[in-house]
Amino acid sequence: MDFAKLVLDTRSVRRFKQEPVPGRELLESWVDIARQTPSAANRQPLRYLVVSGAEDCARLFPSLYWAAALKDWPGPAEDERPTGYVLVLRDQRLAKTREHDEGIVAYALQLAARADGFGSCMLGAIERKQIREEFGLPEWCEISLVLAFGAQGESIVLEDAETGVASPSYYRDAQSVHHVPKRRLKDVLID
Ligand SMILES: Cc1cc2nc3c(=O)[nH]c(=O)nc-3n(C[C@H](O)[C@H](O)[C@H](O)COP(=O)(O)O)c2cc1C
Repeated sequence: MDFAKLVLDTRSVRRFKQEPVPGRELLESWVDIARQTPSAANRQPLRYLVVSGAEDCARLFPSLYWAAALKDWPGPAEDERPTGYVLVLRDQRLAKTREHDEGIVAYALQLAARADGFGSCMLGAIERKQIREEFGLPEWCEISLVLAFGAQGESIVLEDAETGVASPSYYRDAQSVHHVPKRRLKDVLID
């Protein structure tokens, strides 16, 4: 796939079809790509928990918050939920605070999924304590982000954001198409 198309098509997906399911092996193959991305001082403090299978996915789902800007939408309905997840964890013994590494691996995971035809969403609004307890994660690992995956079940379009708006918010139209305004090139380039 053309690189620009891959990037532009890799959107935050929040409604998924239930088939096809990205199996554990495929999820692990995305982690295999992500683990080889740049890392500050090449310390590589990140670890990953792959969550797959209907039962484990259902254990994780209640700890996630979806689309804060869509006030009237309670999140994906039962038949719209992600069918696989990767938790990005940081070994606090190697890196105490969140660094740039998390963002790099998270996006690599999204791109890898998209290249294989799957949609994804990065989630930082998560119940960390609840997830730690549910999955029995050790104290030394901090949960940085959750990546949700599945077959894309919604239409998403990019559009130009209004110049000067403080926080261009995403929204859904009457046809349930999800719109994502992005600041224009002229508004992000500094002369
Ligand atoms: C660090 C980070 C954390 C995010 N956390 C959440 C989240 O908890 N829940 C959610 O629905 N979306 C989350 N998102 C997705 C953003 O809302 C999304 O990137 C934004 O609306 C722009 O859409 P786009 O990814 O299609 O460009 C997160 C994105 C990033 C980069």
